Amino acid sequence: MLVRPGEKAKVKIKVNGIWYEREVEPRQLLVHFLRDELGLTGTKVGCDTSTCGACTVLLNGKSVKSCTVLTVQADGAEVTTIEGLDAKDIKEAFKENFALQCGYCTPGMIVQSFYLLKEYPHPSEEEIREGIHGNICRCTGYQNIVKAIKQASGDGHVHG
Ligand code: FES
Ligand code: FES
Repeated sequence: MLVRPGEKAKVKIKVNGIWYEREVEPRQLLVHFLRDELGLTGTKVGCDTSTCGACTVLLNGKSVKSCTVLTVQADGAEVTTIEGLDAKDIKEAFKENFALQCGYCTPGMIVQSFYLLKEYPHPSEEEIREGIHGNICRCTGYQNIVKAIKQASGDGHVHG
């Protein structure tokens, strides 16, 4: 796509099952498109260094940090945000295992968990920790998050 300086770029992106056509700044990040253009504020911005994972979404089924993707790169693609994610079991498991405190990291963590469980339906604790290492939670110490993901996988109805 060739865009001259000062021009906007036309994009067509399917988000949570709905196609949106917009004109965007060529440098706009996908996370801002989702939050500011579409009002999908479940996707958070937790850092400016691409490290926290609070902005995680699925792009054509793969988990990505939406602060590392330009909106124009998602042209023609399919995006799923926390609002459109079919992850009832994971959300329940997070609640039951007290895996959220401030909750700021939670949407990204749940999207990442969903992706992890799609790739590894029965992950070991090590695979879970590896799978979420790009998502930072500063308050739960990960133990409950790991338990929640294990429970959501159907492998570990661990309580307490
Ligand atoms: S806001 Fe994207 S990784 Fe932190
Ligand atoms: S619940 Fe607070 S940063 Fe994750």
